[in-house]
Amino acid sequence: MSRENIFVSGASRGIGKEIAINFAKKGFNVVGTSRSDFDFNLDLDNLKPIKLDITNRDDVHDCFDWLKSKNLLPDILVNNAGITSDQLFIRMKDEEWDNVIETNLTGTFNLSKVFIKNMIKNKFGRIINITSISGLMGNPGQVNYSSSKAALTGFTKSLAKEVGSRNITVNSVAPGYIETDMTSFLEDETRMNIIKNIPLGRIGKVDDVSELVMFLASDEASYITGQTISVDGGLLMY
Ligand SMILES: NC(=O)c1ccc[n+]([C@@H]2O[C@H](COP(=O)([O-])OP(=O)(O)OC[C@H]3O[C@@H](n4cnc5c(N)ncnc54)[C@H](OP(=O)(O)O)[C@@H]3O)[C@@H](O)[C@H]2O)c1
Repeated sequence: MSRENIFVSGASRGIGKEIAINFAKKGFNVVGTSRSDFDFNLDLDNLKPIKLDITNRDDVHDCFDWLKSKNLLPDILVNNAGITSDQLFIRMKDEEWDNVIETNLTGTFNLSKVFIKNMIKNKFGRIINITSISGLMGNPGQVNYSSSKAALTGFTKSLAKEVGSRNITVNSVAPGYIETDMTSFLEDETRMNIIKNIPLGRIGKVDDVSELVMFLASDEASYITGQTISVDGGLLMY
């Protein structure tokens, strides 16, 4: 790969943690964030955990200044942080809508906005947004979540068209059901019903997602932009 610095939002657990560790093990300088203090518990100098709520624009700007001072502005940005707040639409509270949109969609805007200028200057960049098949096929109880993820698909395409001429690619990865805290609440019966509909017959693993992110960040993926690629064991097919 051509460049060195990568920034992963939501890296304290789950998919983001796997992505951060995977890149760090390959020698990249990785900064990973979450709203609370955390540790990767790994002896890797090139893997830094920082506390950053991506919905707080002042903190995002402070983070930019700090990264700049350390020569760590990202060449590769992975917008992974995301939350759910599931509720049937009829009962959905305003804050359940606002919180999900603010984290999943506006948080991605906040980070991409501050980091893209440096990518434009360098004439190189990779932005990879973690969306969801929920944003592509819909899911009952997730009007807020699927709206935020569907919006990221439009974000990805429009931004890809704007910055392609600067050698910056923008793509989305849409996981299906992946084994993380986000899906740990699923009851056994629900889990079995989900698996019945997955052609590959299993819930996904975090590295199923991180390997695709690694590919999209690589030189081999330099002619791929504006795309949303699912990692879902075949659950959603067009
Ligand atoms: N797991 C799945 O089946 C699945 C399926 C489709 C898509 N996805 C998407 O994949 C991404 C990762 O999901 P996951 O399952 O790994 O989730 P997870 O285990 O719940 O982890 C989410 C991460 O995001 C961080 N985070 C949340 N809000 C944040 C904020 N405002 N600022 C900074 N960090 C924040 C969390 O840390 P703190 O809570 O400490 O802030 C945590 O590190 C999400 O975008 C999710 O929508 C997951």
